[in-house]
Amino acid sequence: MTIQLLSIQNIDQLYEKAFSILKEQQNTGAKNFGLATGGTMIPLYKYIRNSALDFSHCNSVNLDEYVGLPKSHPQSYFSFMRKHLFNTKPFGITYLPNGETANPEEEAKRYETTLKSLEIDLQLLGVGENGHIGFNEPGTSFTSETHVVTLTNSTRKANARFFHTIDDVPRKAITMGIASIMRAKQILLIAVGAKKRPAIQALLHGEITEMIPVTVLKKHGNVIVLTDLGFKNTNHDD
Ligand code: GLP
Repeated sequence: MTIQLLSIQNIDQLYEKAFSILKEQQNTGAKNFGLATGGTMIPLYKYIRNSALDFSHCNSVNLDEYVGLPKSHPQSYFSFMRKHLFNTKPFGITYLPNGETANPEEEAKRYETTLKSLEIDLQLLGVGENGHIGFNEPGTSFTSETHVVTLTNSTRKANARFFHTIDDVPRKAITMGIASIMRAKQILLIAVGAKKRPAIQALLHGEITEMIPVTVLKKHGNVIVLTDLGFKNTNHDD
């Protein structure tokens, strides 16, 4: 039940560290990378784009996708990943839930079957202000696999900054479940900015509860938390 906390207040250094963890994983043979979207990942993907790393022999697996946005919409996670990473650094095979599907439940099942055929070596994670991981909102079962979610108002509000108005933010998404995420061999969670403090406080010092999904990571055993929030650098054992 160990979480390795890396507290780095300088943002450039923080992302440099994230990049070096990823690079190290690749150097030691990691093949399948679990990728995340969200503002937190943008500087890391920039680091990768500007590096000499080659992922063409690796595969990428994304956490989630909005339901009902065309792939070509600039805020679909399909477009996000192309813009921030894949156009410059193509992966061998790129897996993302298909948000354009007419049958999201079926698509969630199909995605979970794909996930089970892979072993994710390193899963990148951001965290929502309410503690969500992927799009697993508070109250999601820790045994959940890939499923369709109705986004909470707080998540839609938080993501509204990427859209013209909040009404443009999709109401549903397909997300890897908590159990799907927990199968990754290693998890790197990045949390930057004061809005993430309550979630990280709960992860480091609170009870494990489905009401704050990120707290499940205490059960994993191989998690690095990289944050600028000034928590003390330490290994947290429960
Ligand atoms: C989004 C994504 C998550 C992401 C989180 C935080 O809704 N589904 O995967 O980690 O919210 O986003 P940001 O990094 O923009 O704060």
